[in-house]
Formats: sequence, C-alpha cells, structure tokens
Amino acid sequence: MEVIYFMMHAKSNNKILITGGYGYIGSHTIVALHTVGYEVIVVDNLSNSTKKIGKNLEIICKKTHKLYEINILNFDELLNCFIKEKPAAVIHFAGLKAVEESVKNPLLYYQNNIQGTINLLDIMGKVDCNNIIFSSSATVYGNPSEMPINEKHILNAINPYGSTKIFCEKIIDDWVKVNKKRSSTILRYFNPIGAHESYLIGDNPNSVPNNLMPYIVSVANGTSEKVSIFGDDYPTKDGTGIRDYIHVMDLAEAHVLAILNDQRGRSRVYNLGTGKGISVLELIKTFEIENKVKVKYTVSSRREGDAAEVYADVKLVKNQLNWSANRTLKEMCKSAWSFGKNL
Ligand code: NAD
Ligand code: UD1
Repeated sequence: MEVIYFMMHAKSNNKILITGGYGYIGSHTIVALHTVGYEVIVVDNLSNSTKKIGKNLEIICKKTHKLYEINILNFDELLNCFIKEKPAAVIHFAGLKAVEESVKNPLLYYQNNIQGTINLLDIMGKVDCNNIIFSSSATVYGNPSEMPINEKHILNAINPYGSTKIFCEKIIDDWVKVNKKRSSTILRYFNPIGAHESYLIGDNPNSVPNNLMPYIVSVANGTSEKVSIFGDDYPTKDGTGIRDYIHVMDLAEAHVLAILNDQRGRSRVYNLGTGKGISVLELIKTFEIENKVKVKYTVSSRREGDAAEVYADVKLVKNQLNWSANRTLKEMCKSAWSFGKNL
C-alpha cells in the first residue's frame, strides 16, 4: 500500500466520485480509497442504503465524505454535482441488482441501470471527466460453457439484470472510443461476501436477502428460519452449486488499482474472483465451524437460471493490475458473521 500511496501522490486531482457509495461494495471501496489518500465524493439516492453508512464510514476513516443524495436519473442535479466537484474519475456502483425483481419489472432495471449510466457518461463528457470504473458481474456470462471463465467467454445474459450489465459495458466501450482522453475499466465481480474488519459496514440489504451469504447470516441470527439449498443434484463434488466467493475488501482494493493504473484511450475488462470454486454446503459448513453457530438448512429444488458451477479465470487481472485476492474463505465467513450477528 505504501508504493500505491506514493504513486497516487504523483497525480494532481485525487477526487473520485462514487455512485452508489453507501451500498455494500461502494462503502468498502471508499475505505480502500481513503487508505491510500484519495478524496471521495458520494452520490447515492439511498434506495438500498442508509445515512448511517456515512456515520460508520466517518468512524472508520476518521473523516467525513461529502454525500450528494441524488438519483442518477436526475440529469440536472447530477450535472450540478459534477460541475461543483470536478472529480478526476468515477466509480459507478449505483444500480439495482436483484435478479428476480428484474424479471418481474424489467423496465425498472433498464431505466435505472442503463439510463443512469447514459446520464453519467453524458455528464462526464460535458465536464471533461474521462475515466470510469464500472461494476459489472459474472452474470454477463450466463450459463457458462467452460470453466474457469475467462474474459473472452461469450456474453449471454439470461435475465434483464444481466442484460443491463452487458448493455452498459457496450455503451461505456463506445463512449471511450469517441475521445482518446477517455478510459474505462469494467470489473466483473464473481460472488463478493464478508465485511470490513471494523464490522461497521457489510452486506445489509434493505429487504429479504436473495444472495446466499446474507441469507446464511439471517438464519444464524434468527431473522430467517432456514436456508433453502437450491438443488443437491448438480454434477459437482457434493451436488450443490459451486461459486467463486471473494472477500469484499479484496474486491474493493482492486478498484484502487484500476484507478491507479488507468491508461488513457483504453477499455479494459477484468474478472474479479479468487479462481476457486466453493459449494453451497462447503460455505455453510465453514460458516458454522468458524463462527461456532448452527445454520439450519433444507434442500429444495433448483433455482431457475442457476448454473452448476461458476468460477473465474483470474490470470488477466493478475498480469495487468498485479492484483489477486488473498483473504481466505474462513476470513470471509468470520467477518460476515461479526458484522451480521447484531443486525
Ligand atoms: P447495493 O445495492 O448495496 O449498492 C448500490 C447502491 O446504489 C445503493 O446504495 C443504492 O441506494 C444506490 N443506487 C441504486 N440506484 C441508484 C440511483 N438511481 N441513483 C443513485 N443511487 C442509486 O449493491 P452492491 O452489492 O454494493 O453492488 C454494487 C454494484 O455492483 C451494482 O451495480 C451491482 O449490480 C454490482 N454487482 C454486485 C454484486 C454483488 O454480489 N453484490 C455482484 C456483481 C455485481
Ligand atoms: C446471483 C445472481 C447474479 C448476481 C449475483 C450477485 C441469479 C441466478 N444470479 O448469482 O446475477 O450477479 O447473485 O448479486 O440469481 N443459493 C442457495 N440458497 C439461497 C441462495 C443461493 O442454495 O438461498 C445457492 C445458489 O443456487 C448458488 C449459490 O448459492 O449456487 C450462490 O447464489 P447467490 O448468492 O444468489 O449468487 P449467484 O447465483 O452466483
């Protein structure tokens, strides 16, 4: 991190605008950016977060980060924010992310995620802000045909949420091509879990969790009754689904490297995962052992659209950004529970 700090100080404007900065991944990335001395401006409409995150970030960083409570769909308010703040770069987390909801209400997703991204890029162009880091997802690979998945794998969304990520990636790519000063880094996250070591921030969705880890936490703390394991008849080591779980702080640190290693005129795409596949049962068992808590579960039928196994080829990001995930599954489980037990 010291090397990073000195590299960072070679750059003049160190202000980064974070859309969706009070969300799960955004808040952890703010801590990582703060650690190396960046100034952070947050834009968030608090649709899936609360002002309390700001207070907790203040405790962790011993510093206040300015919040603009703005919906990125509101062009004029967002433009005014950019004119006032003149950020050097943007990390774009703001988006809706619930797959099932996107199937029921696709237009909500197309409008929020795609129109929101178009507004952002349009405004960045107007104020000469030329570098964007975008939160994409392994969901863009659909049901993958080969494992591990590398960045050249065909893109094939199987739900509207996934389609919004593919469209946004393409729109960003086209935006970069217009002007040699522009650059983008598309980060395709696999399965981020865990929490910052302060346990003041973590995954705490405003409604019932859809993803596995927050659901395990909600069972362990008594909010939910039991985990439904979606199928134990997959062709995997124990029959349950395999995913690439990655500690959210490892993920957050990759964003810092993406900003530091920005290359004008280039669009880059990286998978962010550990490269290791973990089954649903392995995750539940590790969580139980590490935290000495019982997690009740039952096996139900497969969830529509789920692939048997999904894990990343992470060679490209290692070679080009010198980044790899190094926190363990045990650390992910411990921190998720330390954050979630009192929710
Ligand atoms: P999150 O819901 O915790 O955070 C998103 C934040 O964006 C929230 O604070 C929300 O209030 C804000 N937001 C949403 N729409 C907005 C709008 N129109 N204007 C302003 N603010 C808005 O989600 P997260 O888990 O932190 O995910 C961040 C990004 O990463 C999302 O784009 C998501 O699709 C992507 N992603 C997440 C995961 C995951 O497992 N968490 C995996 C792959 C990709
Ligand atoms: C899901 C989304 C994906 C999104 C990602 C991160 C689907 C089909 N995919 O991926 O688009 O980018 O979240 O937000 O929803 N599981 C259970 N019981 C549960 C929950 C999950 O057994 O209650 C299993 C799943 O079948 C899967 C694994 O746990 O094998 C992980 O599921 P989840 O956390 O929802 O992530 P993904 O399915 O990888």
